[in-house]
Amino acid sequence: MIRDEIKKAILKTVQKMDGGKTVPVFSVEVPEIPEHGDFATNVAFVITRTLAKQIEEKTSTLQSPDIPAIKIRTGDTAWHRVTGSYPTKPLDLAQYLVDHLKKETDLFKKVEVAPPGFINFSLKDEFLLKKLQAVREKPGQWGKSDAGKGKTIVVEYFQLNIGKRPHVGHLRSAVIGDAIARIFECAGYSVKTDTHQGDWGTQFGILLWAFKKLSPSDRAALMKELEENPLEGFHRLNLLYSGANKTAEGYDENPGKEEFAKLERGEAENRNIWRELKGASEENFLRGGVKLLRLRDFEEYKGESEYETDMPAIVNGALKKGVARKKDEAIVVDLSGEGLDEAVLIKSDGASTYLLRDLATIIYRKKKWKFAKSLYVVDVRQSHHFKQLFRVAEKLGFEGWGESQHIEFGFMKLPEGALSTRAGNVISLNALLDEAEKRARAVIQEKNPDLKNKKEIAKQVGLGAIKYFDLSHNRRSGIVFRWEDALSFEGDTGPYLQYARARLNSILQKAKEAGISKKIPDSSELDPLEHRLAAAVLRYPEAIEDALAEYLPNILAHYLYSLARTANEFYHSRPVLQEADAQKRAVRLLIVETVATTLKHGLGLLGIESPDEM
Ligand code: ARG
Repeated sequence: MIRDEIKKAILKTVQKMDGGKTVPVFSVEVPEIPEHGDFATNVAFVITRTLAKQIEEKTSTLQSPDIPAIKIRTGDTAWHRVTGSYPTKPLDLAQYLVDHLKKETDLFKKVEVAPPGFINFSLKDEFLLKKLQAVREKPGQWGKSDAGKGKTIVVEYFQLNIGKRPHVGHLRSAVIGDAIARIFECAGYSVKTDTHQGDWGTQFGILLWAFKKLSPSDRAALMKELEENPLEGFHRLNLLYSGANKTAEGYDENPGKEEFAKLERGEAENRNIWRELKGASEENFLRGGVKLLRLRDFEEYKGESEYETDMPAIVNGALKKGVARKKDEAIVVDLSGEGLDEAVLIKSDGASTYLLRDLATIIYRKKKWKFAKSLYVVDVRQSHHFKQLFRVAEKLGFEGWGESQHIEFGFMKLPEGALSTRAGNVISLNALLDEAEKRARAVIQEKNPDLKNKKEIAKQVGLGAIKYFDLSHNRRSGIVFRWEDALSFEGDTGPYLQYARARLNSILQKAKEAGISKKIPDSSELDPLEHRLAAAVLRYPEAIEDALAEYLPNILAHYLYSLARTANEFYHSRPVLQEADAQKRAVRLLIVETVATTLKHGLGLLGIESPDEM
């Protein structure tokens, strides 16, 4: 990574200066104003502070407070040898660093001090071109790293519930989780994914209660529907569940609890119904949803019910350790002293809880995968649950709790209508995706009526629009989805990025047909826009690294958007195929090719396809 190369050179210079006494923590970033260069650093400010501290510590013999350069010691550091003293102003320090950096590395075309003490860097054109050629030579390697070599990361997302209709949180979880999994994979991690399907608990009890009240012929009809027309079948199951849920509110004791208790005790009738519904759900609904959304396939499709047999030992252990106690008929862990309330392991009717199932899941996954990190992509309303979960796991001495993290996300409001109820969040995945395809198709029809394969491309664009809209926002913020915003070909949208890449692709296609030479001249000067775009391409690995560090795909999305914008500026002002100078043409072609590669790969990491034409 270029950023790292620059950091290394700076660090070397600083350490020569103070004899390796300090390891300053400074940043190397992309300046907001492109004219300031490709990168900028604040290192001079940082070492002004550390040096000031050294001065305080090491010298009591300040000669005079108004001497600008202060002698601090008679050691033999390089800096001392040069001047006998340290400058105290960031601006002077920056200048000193610049003078010495130039001796340390020949990465730069220009290194400049900018008041009050920043240092701006412009990379050598030659260096950029060499790096771009490396991207061209191994496009399959571009963006990949071995940062995660030997480490396993578990990512859990798209946790649908049987019976309950998916809400928009499930869609967000799918899109965000899928992107995070892909990004980690690209960084060399071994990625294990799971769905933790909601197939257990009182919610299932309610469904059982409603199902058992159906006449035998209605039951058979529903099962047939689930088999033959799963989406319709699940819709009916949803209606059954939500109707029953309403009715259950009128009861003193939720009848679903009793049914779930029977299920958990192993009562045959409930088990049989459960097994059938679960089988149909997993096969048709969950796996169907994965296909519909074009997600990475999951390593496991486990449900909450899988942990049934592991739970008693956890409860016994917790009681023995004195972590949990009996409270009436229930078993709880009291976390109220830590502001986390009471965590319930077993309810008063003897039924297990969601929390207990999650405890068992930690043990299972840690044992199976020995993960370095385990992520739960779940909406922010469950943050209390995860805090309780990790704290109880800690108290119980579980391995893995410390590496577990709730990757929370805010709510997305959908437009009213076919896609959502008035409550604003219940969705039908199918309706959403149909709508996306329909709208994308209308836009494509208008822009490019002769396009072949419109149906598939409309799918990619519609789905890409939804995913990108989600991923371009910081996952923590609540967002309002609008078709007009998501599907626009202008601005920070999926279609804009796909379109930018498709356009570059068509240049490449034509260059290939025309047999234009790809040979890059040995030395070549880039104009400012070429330079800017080339440098932007090469920041791709850094964007991946930053997105990964905080589990924030929007960092990658933002990078891609800004790359596409610069690429569009280039597209409109720099002829490629029409360029008369053959050397310049070859250079521009190289830039176009590597931008296109980067956009495609980057969108791919967000789970978004890139049509070659659109
Ligand atoms: N199925 C749950 C829901 O829809 C989310 C499950 C989250 N994952 C977990 N390990 N608790 O609310």
